[in-house]
Amino acid sequence: MDDKKKVLSCIQPSGMLTLGNYLGALKNWLNMQDEFQCTYAVADLHAITVRQDPQKFKGQIYSTFALLLALGIDPEKSTLFIQSHLPEHTALSWALSSVTQFGELSRMTQFKAKSALHADNINVGLFSYPVLMAADILLYQPDFVPVGADQKQHLEIARDIAMRFNRIYGEVFKIPEPYIPKIGARVMSLQDPEKKMSKSDDNINSFVAILDDRDTIIRKFKRAVTDSESSVRLSEDKPGVSNLINIYSAVTGKTAAKVEKEFEGKGYGEFKLAVGEAVADELAPIKERYEKIIADKAELERIFRAGDERAERVARKTYFKAMKKMGFVL
Ligand code: TRP
Repeated sequence: MDDKKKVLSCIQPSGMLTLGNYLGALKNWLNMQDEFQCTYAVADLHAITVRQDPQKFKGQIYSTFALLLALGIDPEKSTLFIQSHLPEHTALSWALSSVTQFGELSRMTQFKAKSALHADNINVGLFSYPVLMAADILLYQPDFVPVGADQKQHLEIARDIAMRFNRIYGEVFKIPEPYIPKIGARVMSLQDPEKKMSKSDDNINSFVAILDDRDTIIRKFKRAVTDSESSVRLSEDKPGVSNLINIYSAVTGKTAAKVEKEFEGKGYGEFKLAVGEAVADELAPIKERYEKIIADKAELERIFRAGDERAERVARKTYFKAMKKMGFVL
């Protein structure tokens, strides 16, 4: 069809998406749409490895899908679908689990971290999560998977599983490479800039949700933790200010040096307001589009059904090829 390289990525519908998700990952999803043939999914099956309230969960799946559209993911250009709608993901995951070792899954840092966090619910799904993620990836034969630091180990195990499968049963899967985007900010908490910005933080002032309104965004930036100096300068011993500089750079496209220059001799108050306004300006049209999209459930469903079908055509082919190689009677 065309000779563009392929990209695959998924996002969990677990709560509100933040400015960190946007600047760190989703903005790149958008930028990759022309250069690559992209497949993106809402990874709802992964989300149930921690307890979800069914009613809220349903709303989050809709809202995550709508938000991806509002951000500018174009369902004509890219394949955009919902993971649980394609049985091939769980089915391939089962096949892959037989070429995955207990030991290697036990060593996953995210499994260890989440087990510590949810000590009362260390379920088997949490353990085999990386195998499902491997299936998500390998079904689409992507060249690249954009991943942040926290998912790098999961991509590595997906590659190991693919190589092992190919060696045992014959060539089926392309071995995907990690894709480190040219731009992409690591956004830290506004209240504790040593920590990554997280939507599950108890302190709501620590993160900006993509759908926060203008006043809320500006207020959260005004309250952002800085330091007792008052120079706008990128420095390891100024994590709060550095985080704000990085956010401002990512949103305006100005280099850090240019930002430092712009605020030379000016106080933190003025700088924080500028960052808040720039972020609010960037997010406002997204929120506006989101409100329209989420209000029309029928149209939303039409879009994800079309995306599901388009994804399924690719996923089925890979799935049956793998099953055939394993000796299943088809
Ligand atoms: N586990 C990923 C996360 O939490 C989401 C995900 C699921 C994913 N399947 C994937 C990411 C496949 C990339 C490729 O961020």
